[in-house]
Amino acid sequence: MRIDILSVVPRLLDSWFGESILQRAQQKGLAEVVVHDLRAYSTDKHKRVDDYAFGGGAGMVMQIEPIDRCISALKAERAYDEVIYMSPDGERLDQPLANRLSTVNNLIILCGHYKGVDERVREHLVTREVSIGDYVLSGGELAAAVLSDSLIRLLPGVLNDETSALSDSFQDGLVAPPVYTRPAEYKGWKVPDVLLSGHEARIEAWRHEQALVRTRERRPDLPGAASETFGEG
Ligand code: ADE
Repeated sequence: MRIDILSVVPRLLDSWFGESILQRAQQKGLAEVVVHDLRAYSTDKHKRVDDYAFGGGAGMVMQIEPIDRCISALKAERAYDEVIYMSPDGERLDQPLANRLSTVNNLIILCGHYKGVDERVREHLVTREVSIGDYVLSGGELAAAVLSDSLIRLLPGVLNDETSALSDSFQDGLVAPPVYTRPAEYKGWKVPDVLLSGHEARIEAWRHEQALVRTRERRPDLPGAASETFGEG
C-alpha cells in the first residue's frame, strides 16, 4: 500500500512515520508513506497556500490550486483508489472502515488547516471525507497519522503475530478481554487462575466471556454486545 499525505506542515508527520511498526512496515516494503509539502506546489512568490475567505469572516482558507497541482502530479504517476480529506464533518473512522480501506493500493490523504479548504476541493478533487471523532484538531495531520496507522497495521506481515490484528478490540464487534503477564501475583493482586491452568479451551471460553461482559458494560452500542450467551462463541 502506498499513502501520499498532502500537508502544509509536513514536518509534523516525519517522526510519526519514522518510528516503530510504521517504520518497519516501510523497511519491509509493505507500506510506503510519502509526505508532500503543499507549499512546493504554490505558484505564489511567497509560497502562500491560503487566502482570505470570499464574503469575509475570520480565518484563512486553503487554496485549490496548490492542492490540485499536487494531486494531478501524483495521479500522473499512478492510479489512486481514493483521495481522502481529513475533516471533523467527514464519515467517522471505525474498524470496519479501516478494514475496507486497508485493502486498497494507493491513497492520497489531504490534511486541512486554517478554516479548511476551498469547497471546490471537496466537490471536485476529494472522493471521501473522514473524521477521527467529534472534536476539532488544529490541523488534519494527527488525523491523517491516525488513519494511516489504523490501515498499515492491518497489512499482512506488518505485525509480527499474524493473528494479533484479528484479536484487536472491535474486530469481532467486541472489545478485547483483559491480559496479564508475570508476576502471577503482585502485592497480593492475582492473575485469574484459569489463565495459569494451561487448559486452552477453558482459557478461550474465559476470554470470550470477559470480552462479552466488558462490551456490555462499556460499549453496549457495539454489535457484539447483543451476541449469544457465554461459551457459545
Ligand atoms: N481535522 C480537524 N479535526 C479533525 C477530526 N476530528 N477528524 C479529522 N480531521 C480533522
